[in-house]
Amino acid sequence: MIRWQWVRFAAISCVFLAGCDIDRGPAGVETLSGSNVVRHHNPQQVALGEQVFKRHCAVCHGANGEGVPNWRQRDAEGFFPPPPLNGSGHEWHHPAAMLRDMIRDGSPPGQGKMPAWGGTLSEQEIAAVVEWFQSRWPDPVYAAWYDMQQRSQGR
Ligand code: HEC
Repeated sequence: MIRWQWVRFAAISCVFLAGCDIDRGPAGVETLSGSNVVRHHNPQQVALGEQVFKRHCAVCHGANGEGVPNWRQRDAEGFFPPPPLNGSGHEWHHPAAMLRDMIRDGSPPGQGKMPAWGGTLSEQEIAAVVEWFQSRWPDPVYAAWYDMQQRSQGR
């Protein structure tokens, strides 16, 4: 975990510096040094997303999006507890639009107690918070998600 945080910190810092370990491809995206995984993160969106997450989401999903340990098991009332968003759960199986829908609309009835955020957050804030937690996913998780995202035709 610490290693990834360091790599991410280095990557974000490097965006602002010429000649460091980041290769900028033709589309202006960054590739982490020593990895062939291309990450697509807009630093401004990531920064906004972090604020949104700390303010509204960390209370349930944990300070770093780690979720609760027993997130796979329904509670006594039959609801699923808050799952991880840091790349160690199920979240990376979903296209970005589906993640945004879930945040905007909340849990499907009877499944969980995730509130709907559509009335509180703008579309930009919802997209930013997704971008923030995606920026925390390890390279292999991000790569697997990106591949699936492409196959879902950009949804
Ligand atoms: C009151 C607690 C609570 C808060 C606050 C909360 N969530 Fe959730 N969240 C949940 C629960 C519980 C689930 C699982 C619900 C389900 O399975 O229907 C969930 C599920 C999700 C999922 C789906 C994950 C997956 O693996 O499918 C996403 C994405 C998500 N939350 C993002 C957020 C974001 C972003 C915020 C802040 C804007 C937020 N949540 C705030 C409780 C919360």
